Amino acid sequence: MSRIVWLLLPAVVAMVTGCSRDAVKPAAQAAAMAAAPIPSIVSKDGRYALMVDGAPFLMLGAQVNNSSNYPAALPKVWPAITMLHANTVEVPVAWEQIEPVEGHFDFSFVDTLLKQAREHNVRLTLLWFGTWKNTGPSYTPEWVKLNNDRFPRLTDAKGERSYALSPLYPATLEADTKAFVALMTHLKAVDAQRTVILVQVENETGTYNSVRDYSPVAEKLFQGPVPDVLVTALHKKPGTWRDVFGADADEFFHAWSIATFVGKVAAAGKQAYPLPMYVNAALRDPLKPQSPFNYASGGPTDNVLDIWKVAAPAISVAAPDLYNRSSDQVMAQIARYHRPDNALLDVEIGNDLQYARYFFAILGNQGIGFGPFGMDFTGYSNYPLGPKKMDASIVQRFAANYELVGPMAREWAKLSFDGKVHGVAELDDRQPQTIDLARWTAKIAYGEWQFGFSSWTWVGKIDKPDDGGVPDGGVLIADLGPDEYLVAGRNARVQFELADKKSTAKPMLVRVEEGHYDHGRWVFERVWNGDQTDYGLNFTRLPQVLRVRVGTY
Ligand code: DGJ
Repeated sequence: MSRIVWLLLPAVVAMVTGCSRDAVKPAAQAAAMAAAPIPSIVSKDGRYALMVDGAPFLMLGAQVNNSSNYPAALPKVWPAITMLHANTVEVPVAWEQIEPVEGHFDFSFVDTLLKQAREHNVRLTLLWFGTWKNTGPSYTPEWVKLNNDRFPRLTDAKGERSYALSPLYPATLEADTKAFVALMTHLKAVDAQRTVILVQVENETGTYNSVRDYSPVAEKLFQGPVPDVLVTALHKKPGTWRDVFGADADEFFHAWSIATFVGKVAAAGKQAYPLPMYVNAALRDPLKPQSPFNYASGGPTDNVLDIWKVAAPAISVAAPDLYNRSSDQVMAQIARYHRPDNALLDVEIGNDLQYARYFFAILGNQGIGFGPFGMDFTGYSNYPLGPKKMDASIVQRFAANYELVGPMAREWAKLSFDGKVHGVAELDDRQPQTIDLARWTAKIAYGEWQFGFSSWTWVGKIDKPDDGGVPDGGVLIADLGPDEYLVAGRNARVQFELADKKSTAKPMLVRVEEGHYDHGRWVFERVWNGDQTDYGLNFTRLPQVLRVRVGTY
């Protein structure tokens, strides 16, 4: 391909250079790299797209274990990523690792990671483990964690020193910001290919066992007025934190303090290199009241997202970390985090078998990314959050989702941005569900074989499909045109019915094509008919994608 064509097609070039670097001449590659647009998160009518190489991108992610951020661990990471068919790997970059001595930076791991990610044709989401990692400062360098005078820990309500660093001290903010800016500056210099598409700022901020900092410095601020910008944004009357927020004042003050800190770190990093940035949340129970003393108070939990949005505008998304297998919990969290002002982004979900189905609920709710946690073969399992043993069988469960959607990920991301997608995950009650498609209703059933109906009695006893008792179904549907849908699924049956129950017309499948997308073009493989459609459209864990036309007679 000539250099002129490369220059005319920057987005395509960027994709190709990411995919087969060796085939590209260095000069053309350099030109293409220079042209690759910086990833961004854009919104339209309350919907979101993660733009990579100039087009909506669906992050089919995998988060590695916490201590897999060293070159020695990477050989045990890549086989899991390849088996998973992930297009993005989420990897920590620790403050202690890049700035072990104050002012002396070491980006050797970052460079190794970038090189190997490119060789494995995947993008990266980098996780900045700085002042907060699961609320504590364990990933800060020794010169931070051993110096309480310079980097004060917060004081709890009993006057005792907490494990967590206080968000209120300029020295901590300055030091964290300096390191993060150094990281972003380095990325800008070494990643013209845009291998890194997203950056997480800190990890699960907040504080356990203390709702806020109660030190004298904190008390003075707490007794002062709520900042105007927050009062105005939340349509409140001015006053002290207690006046304005009553019983919630302590938690909201802490959320404001942490979000302001994180927002400043992110803004400074973005000034160096404006990649899209997000935060992840250690969640509170969405279904029953809980004291903030018992969850990560001040982190981006659902009840303080409005505060985070005002305090940290450089943060594009607050992402829920999903570690409760219960479908009631997961669906409630999805509802809390999928908001007109917040894209649904799942960067961390448990990797036990029960979690694989939630891919369909996330994508059905216009999710821009999905990422099971602990996806490497370093021999670690985080049971009881994840499985008792992490092995290939776990990876394969999740791989089926990515094999299904991977080839059409770009198309799906665009349909999602255009508001044309639907999807459900099988719930714990395993009962049928419906998807409203205006003129049509898609009826989704689980626990059926591909053939026949479980209600048949004339054949005698019918075995149930052996699914190990783990709900594992899900369906995705996208509107393609009048009476035409893209349909894909996993362990589920889809039947189309007319929404108007009074209609005398009868529904029928006019044509069901199995095929796949190839660079945006639908490639027909075969027509499903007869047994394959007489009992609805039945999906197993095979990567089968259908274009379905429905009509009436
Ligand atoms: C959530 C955190 O964000 C992860 O880094 C990890 O610690 C998991 N919890 C537990 O494995």
